[in-house]
Amino acid sequence: MHDRTAVKTAPTGWGVSGNSSEARLRRRFPTVEDLRKAAERRIPALGYETVAGGNGQNLAVQRNALALDAIELVPRIGGDKGPVATDVTLFGRHYAAPLGIAPMGLQSVFWPGAERHLARAAQRARIPYTAGTVSGISLEEAAQLAPDVVWFQLYRLARDDHKVGFDLLRRAQAAGVHVLVMTVDTPGRAKRPGELRNGLTLPFRPTLRTIMQAAVSPGWVSALVQNGQPSFPCLAPYCGSNPRKADIAWFAQREVGGAFTFEELKRYRDAWKGPMVIKGVMHPADAEKAVAIGLDGVQVSNHGGRQLEAAPAAIDVVPAIVRAVGTKATVLFDSGVRSGLDAVRAVALGAQAALAGRAFLYGVGAAGADGGDYVTGMLVEEISVAMRQLGAPDVAALRALAIRHPGAWQF
Ligand SMILES: Cc1cc2nc3c(=O)[nH]c(=O)nc-3n(C[C@H](O)[C@H](O)[C@H](O)COP(=O)(O)O)c2cc1C
Repeated sequence: MHDRTAVKTAPTGWGVSGNSSEARLRRRFPTVEDLRKAAERRIPALGYETVAGGNGQNLAVQRNALALDAIELVPRIGGDKGPVATDVTLFGRHYAAPLGIAPMGLQSVFWPGAERHLARAAQRARIPYTAGTVSGISLEEAAQLAPDVVWFQLYRLARDDHKVGFDLLRRAQAAGVHVLVMTVDTPGRAKRPGELRNGLTLPFRPTLRTIMQAAVSPGWVSALVQNGQPSFPCLAPYCGSNPRKADIAWFAQREVGGAFTFEELKRYRDAWKGPMVIKGVMHPADAEKAVAIGLDGVQVSNHGGRQLEAAPAAIDVVPAIVRAVGTKATVLFDSGVRSGLDAVRAVALGAQAALAGRAFLYGVGAAGADGGDYVTGMLVEEISVAMRQLGAPDVAALRALAIRHPGAWQF
């Protein structure tokens, strides 16, 4: 099932002639920024700001983008020997590109049904799809939609000695999830002004303001009618028999929270039979501790700037973390990826792959069901184009490039 020939090759060329739906999307949305702007127009402010916003004044979101933009890569000559090979192997499994979809809760507030579009798109493009504890589809459905590429992200649910957390682990194992991703960067609730301004509450309670916003977003309303009110189906089995969506939301509000300690991670490590990643690491010493207790991967991330506003840009700590654990573990990166070139930058700095969150959602927000495939194809193609420009015939060659990285942290 995981043979190399199954990999979908990146589309070739940027020609925008023709009238296929892909050609039309290319003309309308040549970049993720075009998708973002269109999504902002099409989606109620509550949904848009819930996703686009970060913590406080959005400084960490901006820092992520600026730090990636500042990284320069020097092209080499002589590597142009035909099509570039974007494929990578992560935790023993073969993927089409060093790119994946990061876990995102509340996606359905942004675009009802987004999870399904993205899971299907990831499967078709053969890139990792991370389902999440607070996703709008169950982990079993995610595994059905994306059987070859599904990872599962677990939040801490500590009540009754982690009874729910270990049951989710068991379910993930039974559903055939390949990689378990343990998020550690949510020790407390973040203050996100966009959510507060627009009245995001759990359970979701429509206000006059949100109803008026929805009234001018017909595409979003029709997606809502098709998919129903957002909920957290992964958690439904723990909320009594026939729980209402409000009961599940209360449960999530009450029970999900805090950051795993290293002792807790060790217990999960011992119980999980596949590869395990720690997500939200920003310090090389923490990466070393995680690898010492047996974790296989370290996802460098500041949660897309949504948790700690004073956090460094996540890309700026990648080199130090690669130096600390890069020979013993798989280093992944997320936070700020808005183009294939950004993924290439992360790989040039030593990450094995980059994951993106919002970029994928903007695709769905702008183009609905087609948006998942469109943005996936666009980012993979941008990776391939950047590699060709750099004279890198394959992903390994990116690591030999000369790089200027002005913001790199030294610890
Ligand atoms: C709307 C939204 C919801 C998120 N929910 C989760 C989550 O449930 N679990 C988690 O580990 N990370 C979550 N994240 C963080 C992402 O996994 C990822 O770290 C971040 O989006 C990467 O930054 P980017 O959006 O700039 O690509 C969320 C991010 C967004 C935008």
